[in-house]
Amino acid sequence: MMRLSLMAVLFMGIIFFESCSKNIRTDEPLDYSVSQLKKTLSHIPADTPNIPRNIKDSLGNWRYVDYKDWTSGFWAGELWYAYEFTKDENIKQQAQRFTEQLYPLSVSPAFDHDLGFQVFNSYGNAYRLTGNEAYKKVILNTADTLATLFNPRVGTILSWPRLVPNMEWPQHNTIIDNMINLELLFWAAQNGGDHNLYDIAVKHAETTMKNHFRPDYTSYHAVVYDKDTGKKIKGVTHQGYADDSMWARGQSWAIYGYTMCYRFTKDPKFLDFAQKVSDVYLARLPEDKIPYWDFDDPAIPNAPRDASAAAVTASALLELSTFVKDKEKAQNYRKEAEAMLAELSSAEYQSRAKNSALIMHVTGHKPNNSEVDTSINYGDYYYLEALIRERKLQEGRSIYENL
Ligand code: GLY
Repeated sequence: MMRLSLMAVLFMGIIFFESCSKNIRTDEPLDYSVSQLKKTLSHIPADTPNIPRNIKDSLGNWRYVDYKDWTSGFWAGELWYAYEFTKDENIKQQAQRFTEQLYPLSVSPAFDHDLGFQVFNSYGNAYRLTGNEAYKKVILNTADTLATLFNPRVGTILSWPRLVPNMEWPQHNTIIDNMINLELLFWAAQNGGDHNLYDIAVKHAETTMKNHFRPDYTSYHAVVYDKDTGKKIKGVTHQGYADDSMWARGQSWAIYGYTMCYRFTKDPKFLDFAQKVSDVYLARLPEDKIPYWDFDDPAIPNAPRDASAAAVTASALLELSTFVKDKEKAQNYRKEAEAMLAELSSAEYQSRAKNSALIMHVTGHKPNNSEVDTSINYGDYYYLEALIRERKLQEGRSIYENL
């Protein structure tokens, strides 16, 4: 009997060790990321534009943009995550410097829906880590600005208030990427902003759930609506392979977006939907878990990858794994996220000596032949966010806590 229970304890110990040892190590990739960010900082020009957006040539040189660019908040966000990990005051100063450059966005009319990407990743992380009330004010003002793009007849935010090919301007367009910008509205509503911001975010998520997905839960990139009647006109693509294809980053925005909607609303329909849009993505991944830029490109396996979609999805699945009640399913989301992070941390995907970004093989806009198979700041941002989230989970913390 005694021997049997000893055996059982030993067996349980082996199982426990096995399950722990499957977690990826986060210290090396985080140390690596900080050292790459420091290299980038040392190259940055003194004048604007000085926000590194993407690697533009084979020599590893960055292309720089200013605060108006849709990706302008990712660089400051990366610096905030690096500060969170290192507590290095020099990195904090740089994070403040690049965050504060984005201030004009909070006092100008909305150019488009990207305000959440721009201001929440920069000022949102800045406020989370410093508690500086001036930063909070910027976030609240920008949320009000984003809300001006909401069309109540349609029930969504107008993503691109301008002429874009195939979008039948001046009709109303909404892109799946817009889901991420709801985080700014939800957060503002919870932190002193108008409650109407919450209602707008919920309505946008519900309308998108109804109109933006095919029966198999794959997403259109864009939906065009009649701006007066709110009727759906058509689902189309802008950055994907075809109107009916699954553009990888678009699907990852849906996974991240519906998981985040559940965080703020605790409405089970968003949790259920987050799982549905995740499951179709996971079922169609190649073996190494990094998607081709579009799941339906007939050139696969000779098509470029999009490592940014993998980074966005890894970060989202880590959050999703904390919400899903079915233990086996939750563990599976975590395991998938860890496998993605392990691959992104390999020599195949980390930039290492090739350039000073964190990861490579990101595809921005394949139909335009721009930023194909390169390094782009949003791939790096979500890679770092996912590593920080994984570290917190391994330490038994909530992913929303500061490290
Ligand atoms: N939000 C634009 C993109 O994902 O490329």
